[in-house]
Amino acid sequence: MTQSLVGADKFSLDTPILCIDLDVMESNINTMAAFIGERGKQWRPHQKCHKTPAIAMKQIEAGAIGVTCAKVSEAEVMAAGGVRDILIANMIVGKRKVERVASLCRWADPIVACDHYAQVEPLAAACKAAGVTCRVIPEVNLGLDRVGVRPGIDTLALAQGIDKLEGVELAGIMGYEGHLLQIPNPAEKRERIADAVNILVTCRDLIRNDGLNCDIVSAGGTGSYQITSDCDGVTELQSGGGIFACPMYQNHCDLQDLDYSLSVLATVVSRPAKDRAVLDSGRKTQNPDHETPLVKGHPGAEVVRVSAEHCELNLSGESQNLKIGDKLELIPGYADFTTVLHDQFYGFRGERLEVVWPIQGRGKLQ
Ligand SMILES: Cc1ncc(COP(=O)(O)O)c(C=O)c1O
Repeated sequence: MTQSLVGADKFSLDTPILCIDLDVMESNINTMAAFIGERGKQWRPHQKCHKTPAIAMKQIEAGAIGVTCAKVSEAEVMAAGGVRDILIANMIVGKRKVERVASLCRWADPIVACDHYAQVEPLAAACKAAGVTCRVIPEVNLGLDRVGVRPGIDTLALAQGIDKLEGVELAGIMGYEGHLLQIPNPAEKRERIADAVNILVTCRDLIRNDGLNCDIVSAGGTGSYQITSDCDGVTELQSGGGIFACPMYQNHCDLQDLDYSLSVLATVVSRPAKDRAVLDSGRKTQNPDHETPLVKGHPGAEVVRVSAEHCELNLSGESQNLKIGDKLELIPGYADFTTVLHDQFYGFRGERLEVVWPIQGRGKLQ
């Protein structure tokens, strides 16, 4: 149905809808791919900001080696969409889930993260029973203190344990320096990230010196990719959200050279006062929690409150000319929490609708 809208002018469409500026997104993809590639690293972007195989394929066309996922079901969607090399950068626990990973090994080439032998043993058993071998990668705690095996002897012991199991093979190690992305001082940020990544490199050496494989050293988010790409020893970057380059990254992570490419098209549905407008795009359309959305192209208009169905703007200057029925774009503060509210991305070339992509990973939470 929506495909019949292709060719339509953006501002003629019903609202709210989630829009991508394709020129800007493609430019962001190319910029990230080139930056990472020029530093001799591989790019395995996290797909959580888009959850859409068509966009993953665009990243792969630009040079990415595959994707990073958080869930088995996301990996299944990506594999069904043609992506082969998939890192599930999360702990996979539960009989059915490990069986699903074993099945996935028949039609893709996943790597599953772990931080304890108790996660790997059932996966190995399921894979052995299915007659497949799954790559496994210990996640090392780099200081984020979320998940992750302790660096040093614990990491080595986990690697040795994996190496002894049939049905899995040790592929390398990963970490996520997520606690360091928002350090305001650029020199301090660079130094602290280098130190964190060095923990991984030291673990790699420990594993290799024991005669085990540690080809992959994976780290990096959008908020750190311009630094982590420069770190010796890292082989691949998981940075993904930069393709939309939301205000959260731009305001807090000193992200440079990438532009906003995601927006929510909304309609002014009420003008209760000269300095107030209300849009039809509340929390069920865009999540404002991480960072307040921006109003595009209307200087003086600011988001002040977002409730379930309403987004309230404060208006000053020329933005007070906004009328009921006018359409405008909001730039979501952080894409990840907004993408998951929508069934589709509407991709525009300029203001012409070029493509409608179902967000196939939406609701894939297992
Ligand atoms: C394991 C992992 N890798 C990478 C990232 C970075 O993702 P992005 O670049 O989309 O911010 C995250 C973000 O939460 C993560 O949890």
